[in-house]
Amino acid sequence: MKIKKIKINAKTPYDVIVGKGLLPELAAYLPNELHVGKTAVIITDSNVMPLYEPLARKSLEDAGYKVISHAFESGEKHKTPEELIKILNFMADNKVTRSDFIIALGGGITGDMAGFAAGVYLRGIDYVQIPTTFLAAVDSSVGGKTAVNLNAGKNLAGLFYQPSVVICDPDVFETLDDLTFADGVSEAIKHGFILDGEFFLKLKGKTRAQYMDDIVEIIARNVEIKGEIVGADEFERGKRQLLNFGHTAGHAIEKCTDHAYTHGQAVAAGMFIMSRAGYKKGFCEQDFSSEISEALVAFPWQFTFKFSVEDMYQAALSDKKRSGGKINIIIPESVGKCVIKEINAEELYEIFELGVK
Ligand code: GLY
Repeated sequence: MKIKKIKINAKTPYDVIVGKGLLPELAAYLPNELHVGKTAVIITDSNVMPLYEPLARKSLEDAGYKVISHAFESGEKHKTPEELIKILNFMADNKVTRSDFIIALGGGITGDMAGFAAGVYLRGIDYVQIPTTFLAAVDSSVGGKTAVNLNAGKNLAGLFYQPSVVICDPDVFETLDDLTFADGVSEAIKHGFILDGEFFLKLKGKTRAQYMDDIVEIIARNVEIKGEIVGADEFERGKRQLLNFGHTAGHAIEKCTDHAYTHGQAVAAGMFIMSRAGYKKGFCEQDFSSEISEALVAFPWQFTFKFSVEDMYQAALSDKKRSGGKINIIIPESVGKCVIKEINAEELYEIFELGVK
């Protein structure tokens, strides 16, 4: 079995372990501090519960852990403070102590919500990320961002709270539909586009089957890129903002389409918009929007924009990344290099307008 281990040098360092077939042997990959005698609290959603909870549970119980599980209804609409409170009450009702730990088994929504619960339950308990989507594997399970959505927008309440380990078994991607798989592709090409042009070109135009042929290496390279950024700027005061390429527009699109656009789809549209707008506005010398669409050619997304610029603008204004009247946007300079540019928040309207036309 090919296993890759990448160290994330956050304030509390941890490993990301990637390999096919890891989930059924999960207990063997837990760090020593999460030893037998502790209770493992599996937090998952209603889709993943029947698919992978039994495998995770068996490995843990065979190794001697006590296991309890809680599943919430799947979907972005359920990434709410109310669901977070249910998770916290579930743990309190089951007398989970500070020395027990959470296993976040699922995609980004699960990882964000279970990580947040770990960060605030009894003022912080350990947690393990087990991503079951390609998106969570290459992005959200690494870096310690945890959150729930508020009415005003996505991820508006949360913590930076790093996991003890990330265990990623790409065999579980088999049960993803194509659109959900493509969400991960969008974040993977984003990592290449902002920091490693060679990697971007390697991924460009690949089909799902081609991704799967090389999946352990692809995830590992994504985690290295993300780990390099998180190691340099864990709390997103500078360089980590590069990871938000396409996200200001993307989050706005998710909100104004009421999540009819998935996260990856919205981010892909956002990267396209910012590339085109950056060029038209004179922030960069080349229009890279076709690089973005060509990289995603094997996936069934249309870059036609059916929402109003005004709706997008209003949605973006409630985004957490605003600072006073200013907002930082990410603009491509070349394939493999993006830069952070501060603009007045009102300029965003023009940027979106230039990007969608
Ligand atoms: N997904 C962007 C970040 O973790 O900073």
